[in-house]
Amino acid sequence: MKKVLVAGATGYLGRYAVQEFKNRGYWVRALVRNHEKFKQPGPWLAPSIDNLVDEVFFADATKPETLAGIGEGIDVVFSSLGMIKPDFVHTNFDVDYQGNMNILEQALKAGVPKFVYVSVFDAHRMMNIPNVQAHEKFVRELQAARIESAVIRPNGYFSEIGQFVSRALKGFMFWVGDGYQRQNPIHGADLAKVCVDAAEGSEREVEVGGPEVFTYREMVDLAIEIAGNQPMLLPLPFWLADGLVAGVGLFNRDVHDVALFATTLSRIDIVSPKYGTHRLRDFFVQCKALAT
Ligand SMILES: NC(=O)c1ccc[n+]([C@@H]2O[C@H](COP(=O)([O-])OP(=O)(O)OC[C@H]3O[C@@H](n4cnc5c(N)ncnc54)[C@H](OP(=O)(O)O)[C@@H]3O)[C@@H](O)[C@H]2O)c1
Repeated sequence: MKKVLVAGATGYLGRYAVQEFKNRGYWVRALVRNHEKFKQPGPWLAPSIDNLVDEVFFADATKPETLAGIGEGIDVVFSSLGMIKPDFVHTNFDVDYQGNMNILEQALKAGVPKFVYVSVFDAHRMMNIPNVQAHEKFVRELQAARIESAVIRPNGYFSEIGQFVSRALKGFMFWVGDGYQRQNPIHGADLAKVCVDAAEGSEREVEVGGPEVFTYREMVDLAIEIAGNQPMLLPLPFWLADGLVAGVGLFNRDVHDVALFATTLSRIDIVSPKYGTHRLRDFFVQCKALAT
């Protein structure tokens, strides 16, 4: 039986990855830093994992001393460990880069044969964003290391747009620019299949998105239809959004970086190779049930 270490196991994608590895017969060690989160069901309908994991390894990836031995006996490391929202303590370089470097160091020490890492789609078009810079810095180190690797490059996840329905229900939604940029977000379960396929295959980089392409406005309209409530709509012009981002940057670097991500994505089409079966409409219906 093959053994996998899942780093980021309590996150949206990590939970589906644990589930998919188990479905395919793997023994799973999960890197967990928060016992409460491990026991709880996941965000945005992501599965519970406390009944799936074979061994829990409690550690904080930013503290290398807590990771000693985490790679022992492991055949493949899968990492979706990262910081998608500021914790106001660490930078993206502390977590997405250095945290994953600390895990890679343990994997190399233990002679783990393969490391699968989740970065972002079209990173080269978003290198102004610290989160993306940190991901890609790690990708360069991983690909130069003496270990087989696969880098997954996904589009946005369903979890990122899960709030659309509750915002529509609350009566207020906004976007930046004209809202006509296109993207194909992907469900965690579909993406997890791609990740485990990569763990078992030989591709070094895999670009992927969901099966349906939407403009931002179309996703807003779909959420409004499913919420059954007409919210107030506020399109923010770029000049105003850019000004707000710059202003926030004077006071708080972390919030600035998240806002910069949002304004950057609002300017470009992000359409990646289509994969999966999960439809956004069904997900929004489930989100409405969660919100009401
Ligand atoms: N969300 C998207 O739309 C999207 C799109 C493309 C790429 N990505 C990338 O995909 C990856 C996973 O995204 P996601 O949405 O699944 O994120 P998520 O739900 O926030 O999960 C992140 C995971 O990393 C863990 N983690 C963070 N810092 C840690 C530390 N110091 N020590 C141990 N564990 C730590 C978190 O643990 P806790 O549960 O304890 O916080 C959580 O399990 C990220 O790297 C993200 O940048 C995301």
